[in-house]
Amino acid sequence: MEADLEIWMVSREMEEIAGVGGVKDVTRQLLAAIARRGMRARLVMPRYGIVDDSTLSDTGIALTFPTDYPDRQHTTHARVLYTEAVGVPIYLIDAPCYAEKEGIYTYTAREAQRIGRPEITGCGYYDFFEMNVVLQKATLELIQALGAHPDLIHCQDAHAAFVPAMMRRVPRYAKYFADVGAGITIHNAGPGYHQEVYDLALAQVMTELPEEVIRHGVHREGVYPFLVGGMYADFVNTVSENYAREVMEAPPDDEQTVGIGAAFRARGIQLFGVTNGIDPSEYDPTRPQEMGIAAGYNPLTGDMAGKAICRRALIAEINSGRSDSLQINGYLEDAPGRPLVTMVSRLTAQKGVDRFIEAVRLLLEGAPGQPPDPDILFLVLGAGDPTYQEALIQLTRADPFRGRIAVIIGHGPAVARRVYAAGDFFVNPAAFEPCGLTDYMAQLMGTVPVVHLVGGLVKVQDGVTGYGYYPHTAEALAATLRRAITVMREQPEQHLRIIQQAIRTIYERYTWDKVLERGYMPLYMHAARRKRADRGS
Ligand code: GLC
Repeated sequence: MEADLEIWMVSREMEEIAGVGGVKDVTRQLLAAIARRGMRARLVMPRYGIVDDSTLSDTGIALTFPTDYPDRQHTTHARVLYTEAVGVPIYLIDAPCYAEKEGIYTYTAREAQRIGRPEITGCGYYDFFEMNVVLQKATLELIQALGAHPDLIHCQDAHAAFVPAMMRRVPRYAKYFADVGAGITIHNAGPGYHQEVYDLALAQVMTELPEEVIRHGVHREGVYPFLVGGMYADFVNTVSENYAREVMEAPPDDEQTVGIGAAFRARGIQLFGVTNGIDPSEYDPTRPQEMGIAAGYNPLTGDMAGKAICRRALIAEINSGRSDSLQINGYLEDAPGRPLVTMVSRLTAQKGVDRFIEAVRLLLEGAPGQPPDPDILFLVLGAGDPTYQEALIQLTRADPFRGRIAVIIGHGPAVARRVYAAGDFFVNPAAFEPCGLTDYMAQLMGTVPVVHLVGGLVKVQDGVTGYGYYPHTAEALAATLRRAITVMREQPEQHLRIIQQAIRTIYERYTWDKVLERGYMPLYMHAARRKRADRGS
């Protein structure tokens, strides 16, 4: 009975089409799992300027809807383009607010140059609110234009979180969507992720939501989409059980969650937790060609010879100073038995880059009672805040760090896979982490994660599938790395057991098929009840 659900997803990102964060992976892999289960899935996303045109076709559907500003009327005319991925139809909204965008959420250096304001590189787009509203209205307009009748709409992140409220409270949509369910997934409740606006008139006029609905979503003087939509959603969840608890238990003045949990509580909004999954076939070291790595290996059978080849190849690539179009800093002096500690991350305050840098110092310089360990090698892949980039690059230049740490500025799945394949350890020292997907990726590639035990990172079990530490300090990270490295040196069979147990745990609990079955299906069935009740089924 459940297999006939029709689920529409709304997301600003989708892996392979356009995306920057973990949301792109979740969108793609969850859609794929829904399709594999025999249900009908559809995705609506923007057609940014950077999206490769060659694979898109025109549906011939033209959408016209109001997106007024408080001081002027404004109509959006959008074309709907079409493609397919992972067996799922994808509708791309081609509207003026997306046409010239080269980033997804923020100005690229080129865009900032072009408008003569280099200093806004990395800042959010000035018309972010219109970009969000256009996607959400276009989704509802498109469903009507196609005469589709989904069981539910699954909205990814704050960028899509008005949809449940619009479906119920914008007169143009209320009738058509009366029996359609709606859910919201929160991928990050940290500052900068809420897509709130402080202009209440803009929020009201552009969304067409009644004033009282907008007022109900006001928190700290802004209009918060999670609050507005959360009031009308059939479910609101975040991407791990533990992060859901952290968000809901945080005090109203908490900065890491902007106090959104207290605002949910005050409005009677419940927050579920569903830990994201991973598709193991996308990080399978037994298929080196598809993975783009130098050699194959199989952690489950203990055949790790290929991993050593991957490491040599990547270090040679780094020491040659060239890698794709990436910028390489520093080099690595490899020698047998040297542990290679890797980090793949956006370089932002959330990700704990400062703690990582301090831990590198503690390990390579030593501290009172803690002799330095000059054999440890570090490799960082990432981009982000220029201050962190510069601090890391500086580190590669001076002794005792020279030859011990290399920093690749950039990102991309291809080079990330080469790093996961090469490393012995993978660190995630994030201050907060709603789920974390990179620990899975590292584990699948036979690399042992060392994580700050916060948010979704508690899925790493200390001494069983990796290593975890608390509190969020450089000392705790350095001490845990020492502990993990000692096991690798002195009990290599235990090190391999951890690698293997991590992969087995993913197959048992965290494939997307299992997460869909155990985590999302109950929420979907609940949201779909509206239509089923109507049909009497
Ligand atoms: C966001 C979160 C990250 C999560 C990802 C996918 O990027 O910061 O923890 O894994 O979304 O849900």
